[in-house]
Amino acid sequence: MEQRRLGTSGLDVPVVGMGTWKTFDVRGAAAERRRHQVVDVALESGITLFDSSPMYGEAERVLGDALRGRRDRAIVATKVWTPDDREAEAQFRRALGYYDGWVDVYQVHNLVAWRTRLDQLERFGDEGKVRSIGATHYAHSALPELMDIMCTGRITSIQVPYNPLDREVEREVLPLAAGLGLGVLIMRPVGQGTLAKARVPVEQLDPLAPFGIRTWAQALLKWLLSDPRVTTAIPATANPDHARENAAAGDPPWFGPAERDYVVRLAQQYAG
Ligand SMILES: NC(=O)c1ccc[n+]([C@@H]2O[C@H](COP(=O)([O-])OP(=O)(O)OC[C@H]3O[C@@H](n4cnc5c(N)ncnc54)[C@H](OP(=O)(O)O)[C@@H]3O)[C@@H](O)[C@H]2O)c1
Repeated sequence: MEQRRLGTSGLDVPVVGMGTWKTFDVRGAAAERRRHQVVDVALESGITLFDSSPMYGEAERVLGDALRGRRDRAIVATKVWTPDDREAEAQFRRALGYYDGWVDVYQVHNLVAWRTRLDQLERFGDEGKVRSIGATHYAHSALPELMDIMCTGRITSIQVPYNPLDREVEREVLPLAAGLGLGVLIMRPVGQGTLAKARVPVEQLDPLAPFGIRTWAQALLKWLLSDPRVTTAIPATANPDHARENAAAGDPPWFGPAERDYVVRLAQQYAG
């Protein structure tokens, strides 16, 4: 799988990572064992970056358990998400416990109390517990504030939504990230599942076969990764087969403008 440098963080990350929202929010031996299998397959397939958050219920813990004994093989991107300083400290303590004492990409979730959270994260950075700092938001209305934070020089990556039916970040955010040399993680890369599960006839994918595309989900991921401003896409899945399928979209050749336009047209036709 191709690796890209996450901004100026010094971290090389795979272009296909994995989210954990909803998919890893489970309790109970059988359900948790199944998520450990998803992580097994992900690591075997080159998906070594995992994104989580204290907002995702049990997901941070389940991911930490799945990485037990092999934490050094993974790049953990998690988040702090609270307006309350004491709760923030509790979230840091829990995450550092789940992830053997360090977090690779620590993000301010939805920009909540971002000034204070960045102060705290910078202190953890000085102590070697946080390797890089980022900020996330899912809403278009928050992108101007996110761009202000990008310009402070205090973060090395952002996490934003982007897919063929949600291209707002192309207007200002991606050009700014590229200009500042920031890493870009893509949330909702397959439209929270609705895009990936659209019924695109397989013969419509024939023109993309020379790019190694076998499935519609792979076409969506390669569409994103063919934008050189994108560092990594983090589709969530509870299905080991989907993890393997998604990983296979992480190698060149990348699409050119004609193939990218074609994927947008398919998305509009079958999922728009
Ligand atoms: N504000 C924030 O910071 C924020 C907001 C949103 C998301 N995020 C992060 O970004 C991650 C990704 O976003 P998301 O989970 O909202 O949406 P997503 O990754 O676009 O969609 C996840 C859904 O896609 C399905 N899927 C994945 N691969 C598939 C495949 N190959 N074929 C068919 N279906 C497939 C999964 O179902 P199956 O289980 O059936 O595969 C799952 O239901 C999140 O998990 C989270 O880590 C962050």
